[in-house]
Amino acid sequence: MTEKLADIAAAMVAPGKGILAADESSGTIEKRFDSIGVASTEDSRRDYREMLFRAGEGMKNYVSGVILYDETIRQKAKDGTPLVDIMKAAGSIPGIKVDTGAKPLAGQHSKVEVVTEGLDGLRERLAEYHKLGARFAKWRAVITISEGTPTWNCIKANAHALARYAALCQEASIVPIVEPEVLMDGPYSHHDIDRCYEVTEWTQRTVFRELYDARVALEGMVLKPNMVIAGQKCAKQAKPDQVAELTLKCLKATVPSAVPGIAFLSGGQSDEQATENLSLINQIGGAPWRLTFSYGRALQAAALKAWGGKSENVAAGQRAFTHRARMNSLAALGKWNVQQEKAA
Ligand code: 13P
Repeated sequence: MTEKLADIAAAMVAPGKGILAADESSGTIEKRFDSIGVASTEDSRRDYREMLFRAGEGMKNYVSGVILYDETIRQKAKDGTPLVDIMKAAGSIPGIKVDTGAKPLAGQHSKVEVVTEGLDGLRERLAEYHKLGARFAKWRAVITISEGTPTWNCIKANAHALARYAALCQEASIVPIVEPEVLMDGPYSHHDIDRCYEVTEWTQRTVFRELYDARVALEGMVLKPNMVIAGQKCAKQAKPDQVAELTLKCLKATVPSAVPGIAFLSGGQSDEQATENLSLINQIGGAPWRLTFSYGRALQAAALKAWGGKSENVAAGQRAFTHRARMNSLAALGKWNVQQEKAA
């Protein structure tokens, strides 16, 4: 492994900084825009993301890197500056989502399991993305808890794909974010925190075994896991300190200390819940890796709402984004509290 991969990975999880996931596919961003009554066009998507990337202090102080979608890494701001240059000027590393989405897994009984695709042609795409400025990438695998799932077949297929992706990234001098997401918004009401723990442990163990087989250098990657948390449909919800305790316990049992950092996804938690849980995890202390955020929804929801698709609201959107980024930065240091949340 080159020194460089380890340097990039370390910068991605620098103290008090985290990653902005702004890599929504065209379908997903359309859903987000629908919620504020804005049509999703190439220009509206550009305007929205340009607003975030130009959020001065919010980007500079709290965001180490941004995960982009294929369209965005090629896009220019309204004044013609490449969006990639805007985030670089703010000190953020450009990253790119390279999977092509989760598709139904063949041969299953449950009809809920998916496997992430995108390995074909990935070597060539990574070379191009590197030229476009990307220094890290993301691949999201999805594991669904329901009656009778996940199956070993699903976990194994997704872990194997993650490892092949990660090895290709490192070959291209790109740091892989390895994201095995055990969904919290599954359909199953018996999905309590203990079931989440069990499945997350099984998934992480399998992923690290596959990474080893694929000769992935752990020093040059970042893990992006779910927190250990009850499913949204479960009547028995766990308290934040239990989420923190079990999340850290599960990661300690499965993630080698050679991994420089772990950046959580928010997965459908509310903004404040995602921040509080991260802060509590960090407050426990004693972890061998940095623990930070790589949030999509939990970093963007307030900004999206404040913006509402109107150019006169850009400053308000940026203020909302900066506030969320600052709260999560404090959480990454284990220093967030409700008073700071409300003081803003
Ligand atoms: P959420 O934080 O909205 O779950 O998104 C993070 C992400 O990048 C999922 O792949």
